[in-house]
Amino acid sequence: MDVELVGATIDHLGARCESNWLARMRKTKHSGQFFSKGYFAWDLPAHVVVGLRGFFAEEKRTIFSPKDHSKGYFAWKDTWDDKEISLLNNESVYFAPPNPTAVASLENFLDSIKDEIEQQLAYSWTIYNVRAWSVRPGGAYGPNAWHSDGVSLYRRKLMFYLDPPNEHNGSLEFIDRSEQIRVLESKLPQCILFDSGILKHRARPPSSGVRPSIEVTTIPSNQTCTKSVFAGHAALVPKSVDDEIAARLEASQFRHSTASRILREVRRLPHSIKKALHGGREGDKFALSSRRSPIMSSPLSLIVGGGPHFKYDGWINLDPITGPNNRFSIFLNETTVFPIPSGIIQIVYLTDRMRELHNKTLVRILKEARRVIAEHGNLVAKTPLDPGPRSLEEFVRLVEDVGFVVRSAAANEVCARFKNIPHIDAMKGGKFYCHAVPS
Ligand SMILES: [Fe+2]
Repeated sequence: MDVELVGATIDHLGARCESNWLARMRKTKHSGQFFSKGYFAWDLPAHVVVGLRGFFAEEKRTIFSPKDHSKGYFAWKDTWDDKEISLLNNESVYFAPPNPTAVASLENFLDSIKDEIEQQLAYSWTIYNVRAWSVRPGGAYGPNAWHSDGVSLYRRKLMFYLDPPNEHNGSLEFIDRSEQIRVLESKLPQCILFDSGILKHRARPPSSGVRPSIEVTTIPSNQTCTKSVFAGHAALVPKSVDDEIAARLEASQFRHSTASRILREVRRLPHSIKKALHGGREGDKFALSSRRSPIMSSPLSLIVGGGPHFKYDGWINLDPITGPNNRFSIFLNETTVFPIPSGIIQIVYLTDRMRELHNKTLVRILKEARRVIAEHGNLVAKTPLDPGPRSLEEFVRLVEDVGFVVRSAAANEVCARFKNIPHIDAMKGGKFYCHAVPS
């Protein structure tokens, strides 16, 4: 496995755990604060804080080392320069795994909130790494700079702040699902579950002293388990997660053909030669990979049927055909589950590739779109005026039957409002557009 395959495996595992959990709870839809805002916090009782202080025992003090990861884990990064390592060590104090008493304090507290965590996440979960470090004043690198953790959409963290988080003690700053910047502030020590894989965030260093924090990284699992795992400060993700899903993904993955090898070679050419090759204009393929979303934004959009070449920052593409920008295929059928957590997508865009799908498959795709769309998200569908196996009226009825309300079916209006959707107005004249929102 490589990191990308592990990330995709966790995404598929997560979607499966989530649908199993909803079926077990006899729920069809999920709601909650984590679902709508992207975080959920608990006050830490005084006796728990006392126990957790054991994570910061003087004799456990260590330094950040790129080699500090278990054998069964990928390293955070493959290559490091000395400057990066010394920046991390200057800005924070790192701690080795604590003694059993401190571990028991963490596990006992997690046991007391494990059901609430399950309710918030809507799936069973397990821990794959626990780390502790103290941030010094003035830090602005690594975890102290704006970032999202990535790798998988289901890689979510619990952060423990043993001193009440505020301007003086230091805190956590993040952009919630409605694009609001939030700083965790409380009169009591806090534990916060937040969507660290997706939402942009950074540590807020203290104004003086240090800000001790414990990080517990979770992934979905078939059964909730609060047992701690200490994989090291430089551990990224386990090398192996659910072999069955990984093997299926590996079998379906895009393998570079001669044509794509040539394309990769062309990409390596200097800019001036590329321009000459493309008659003075860079082709779409080059323009696509250079787009960047603003740093202060973390909304995600989904395109279903974007094709094997679609690649834009902030967009997830699900398509049956693999290609250089779509490594793993997704089969669109009556049992398709999008490898995406519920309620996190701001725009779901269904392309005219939905035309060929039979009603049962299309209904399944629409139900998944309804599951993953954010509370205030938008569904945009584009289909040829000759819509294939169904009429346009029937298409609209299916959209509304799964829990959407159609707001507009006027091409000009939809294209103007969603002009940020890549290629939305390509061949506009022959297409039917539909904009809907969750009902
Ligand atoms: Fe982070």
